[in-house]
Amino acid sequence: MPILDIHQVSLNFGGLKALQDVNLKIEEGSTHALIGPNGAGKSTLLNVLTGMLAPSDGSVMFDGKPLLDVQPHDINQLGIAKVFQTPAIFPEMTVLENVTIPVFAARDGAFRMNMFEGIDHQRPLIEFAEEQICELGLKDKMHTKADSLSRGDKRRLEMAICLAHKPRLLLLDEPTAGMARHETEQTIELLNGMKDGITKVIVEHDMNVVFSLAEKISVLAQGQIIAEGAPDEIKGHPKVIEAYLGEAQV
Ligand SMILES: Nc1ncnc2c1ncn2[C@@H]1O[C@H](COP(=O)(O)OP(=O)(O)OP(=O)(O)O)[C@@H](O)[C@H]1O
Ligand SMILES: [Mg+2]
Repeated sequence: MPILDIHQVSLNFGGLKALQDVNLKIEEGSTHALIGPNGAGKSTLLNVLTGMLAPSDGSVMFDGKPLLDVQPHDINQLGIAKVFQTPAIFPEMTVLENVTIPVFAARDGAFRMNMFEGIDHQRPLIEFAEEQICELGLKDKMHTKADSLSRGDKRRLEMAICLAHKPRLLLLDEPTAGMARHETEQTIELLNGMKDGITKVIVEHDMNVVFSLAEKISVLAQGQIIAEGAPDEIKGHPKVIEAYLGEAQV
C-alpha cells in the first residue's frame, strides 16, 4: 500500500486548470521527485497535500485514511511536514529554541511551557531537539541566533524543525533554490543521509539534485502527469523533452 495515494485530483483557479485528474502514488520510504516546467502545478499539488488548497475534485489518502477533510494544523500532527521555499524560522530565537518549539508542540498540540512541571520533565524533549540539531550538523550553532546563520545553515535549521515534528512524509518545494553549488551539494548529502523510513516528495528544477536523490520521478505539465518512471526512463523521454522545450535541458 502506498503511503500517499492521490486519486483524480483536479483544481481550478478561476478558468485556469492548475491540476487535472492527477493520479500519483508515493511508496513509503521512497524519495519521489515531481518535476515540470514553470506553472505546471507542482507547488499547487504540494499545497493540496498540506491542506492549504482544496481541490475541486478527487481524493487523497495518507496512510490509508482520507486527507482532504483534515485541517492544516492537524495534517502536521498526522506526520506530514513541508519545507518552505523561504525558511520558516524565528529569526530572533536561537537554533535550539527554534527546534524546541515544534518538539513541545508535538507533545502538547501547541507550544506551552508547563511551569508546574519543572525543567526535569522537559529534559528528554530538549535532548530530542538537540539530537535533531546535531543530526543536521548544527551542533556548534546550537545557541546562535537563527538570523545570523548562513543561507545553507538556515535551510538545515528548517529541516531540523521539520524533523522535530517526527514526520513520516516530508514535502520539499525547491529546497535548493537560490543556493550556491556547494550548498546544493550539502543539501543533497543531507537528504540522502536522512534516517530511513521518511518518505520524501521533492519538487525541484535542478536536474542534478533530482537525479542524485529520486528513485522515481513524475512529470507534471499544464496540470497533468505526462510521464512517470525511474530516472533512467525519464531522462530523454520524448514527452518530457517536449514539455521542457525552451526550458532547461533534461
Ligand atoms: N493562488 C493562485 N491563484 C491563481 N492562480 C494561481 C495561484 N497559484 C498558482 N496559480 C497558477 O496556477 C498554475 C500552477 O502554479 P504552480 O505555482 O503550482 O506552478 P509550479 O509548477 O509550482 O511552477 P514553478 O516551477 O514556477 O514554481 C500557474 O499558472 C499559476 O500562475
Ligand atoms: Mg512552484
